[in-house]
Amino acid sequence: MHRVATFFTATLLAGRAAQALPMTSSTENPYPVPPYCAFTQSKFLPFRNSGNVNWTSPPSLNITVNGRPLIATMDTGSTGIVIDAKYGFNTTYLEKNCEIGHVFYTSSHWLQEGYWCITEVDVGGVVTSAKALIRTREVCCPDFADGDRCQEPAKSCVCQGTCTSTADQGILRRRVLEEDGDVSRIEARQTASVGKAYMGIGFARGNPPAYNLFMNVTSIDGVPTVSSKFRTGYVITSTGVWLGITKSNTAGFSAIKLNLREGHADNRDWGEPPCDVQINNGSWTRGTFLADTGIPNAYVKGDVPNKEGNQITIRIPDPSTPFGDVKFVSVPKSKAGTVGTDNPMQPTWVGTRTVPGVNTGRKFYNGYDLYFDGDGGYFGLREKSK
Ligand SMILES: *[C@@H]1O[C@H](CO)[C@@H](O)[C@H](O)[C@H]1NC(C)=O
Ligand SMILES: *[C@@H]1O[C@H](CO)[C@@H](O)[C@H](O)[C@H]1NC(C)=O
Ligand SMILES: *[C@@H]1O[C@H](CO)[C@@H](O)[C@H](O)[C@H]1NC(C)=O
Ligand SMILES: *[C@@H]1O[C@H](CO)[C@@H](O)[C@H](O)[C@H]1NC(C)=O
Ligand SMILES: *[C@@H]1O[C@H](CO)[C@@H](O)[C@H](O)[C@H]1NC(C)=O
Repeated sequence: MHRVATFFTATLLAGRAAQALPMTSSTENPYPVPPYCAFTQSKFLPFRNSGNVNWTSPPSLNITVNGRPLIATMDTGSTGIVIDAKYGFNTTYLEKNCEIGHVFYTSSHWLQEGYWCITEVDVGGVVTSAKALIRTREVCCPDFADGDRCQEPAKSCVCQGTCTSTADQGILRRRVLEEDGDVSRIEARQTASVGKAYMGIGFARGNPPAYNLFMNVTSIDGVPTVSSKFRTGYVITSTGVWLGITKSNTAGFSAIKLNLREGHADNRDWGEPPCDVQINNGSWTRGTFLADTGIPNAYVKGDVPNKEGNQITIRIPDPSTPFGDVKFVSVPKSKAGTVGTDNPMQPTWVGTRTVPGVNTGRKFYNGYDLYFDGDGGYFGLREKSK
């Protein structure tokens, strides 16, 4: 909270400073993007499902690992990737070069066992590298006690009672929390038997930048990236993602400076952008903003409890001079996808967020393109032309 309050003051001061300049007119954007003229290395990667123009499904990209093709879901709601060891990794290599590790999903109890390994991934000619979990085994482990390996695997997971992993889908024991995302992420990966990966490229989502493939681009179409010409970051549009921030791919955007996270792992470990939430005619509640490509629903926390029919307004970065303005109505999960369908940014349903602010889910991208400058710590939005 303190962090957000500090940030708010900083942007107000920045706005005032800009207005004090002699040539400033009242129409000048108070939230200009930084000058990116020097940065020219960049590549646009079309989504595999670019026909998915209305964000009904999560975006996916063709990637290759050890020369083997995989389909990766591009998720801004998490950071990190799990890759099955069968894609060109052998035990000798893993034991010698990597650290034993695991990822445990607390909501579903699935444990992914394997090795943390710095792994190169080719995303459409863009070579990226990060710490990935190379999975050697996946087990259901309700009693997992944070050792390296599961001592007593259970027969089935996720569901209540006994069921097999495919039959699980209808009776998942979901938590009405944002962590619910865990379950859908697992589902996405499990239902797709072969050749799928879940690629979390979000920031401020738990893991530090060393786990984020989009934070360590080493070459583009065979040309090594150099820091004077390559600005780490991405621009998400409805048809694909730009890797590498430039003046042209951020044209038309407004941006704010992000703060480093409390206890940041390094100097590129940025926190979530600020926003304000208003429910019905209530007062504005200060919180944080996430537009999670992994989910079609939203999670909101304002000053009154979430309830069916609530009119929700989100303004980014603040209510007075927003460059992002989103409205939707609260819909219970039981009526998912049936209300507000004439509003392109209406989430399928709306749950309660654990912290103030919003996770809009991916329908947000029907109204805005989004950019993240990972080197400089800027976050921006551009309203889509109607
Ligand atoms: C992804 O790979 C598939 C199969 O190789 C190919 O048909 C498709 O054109 C590729 N899509 C993109 C956007 O690269
Ligand atoms: C996307 O949404 C618009 C407006 O609701 C609709 O007219 C269009 O058919 C949709 N396109 C697809 C591919 O679903
Ligand atoms: C294991 O993988 C490494 C790195 O890819 C490779 O150099 C080595 O030949 C492989 N060993 C075996 C036994 O396959
Ligand atoms: C970035 O990529 C390079 C080249 O693969 C690698 O040596 C380095 O460890 C990577 N850094 C991180 C933080 O993953
Ligand atoms: C907001 O206030 C106006 C004027 O008092 C009222 O007409 C409207 O119904 C209120 N809207 C909601 C969603 O409560």
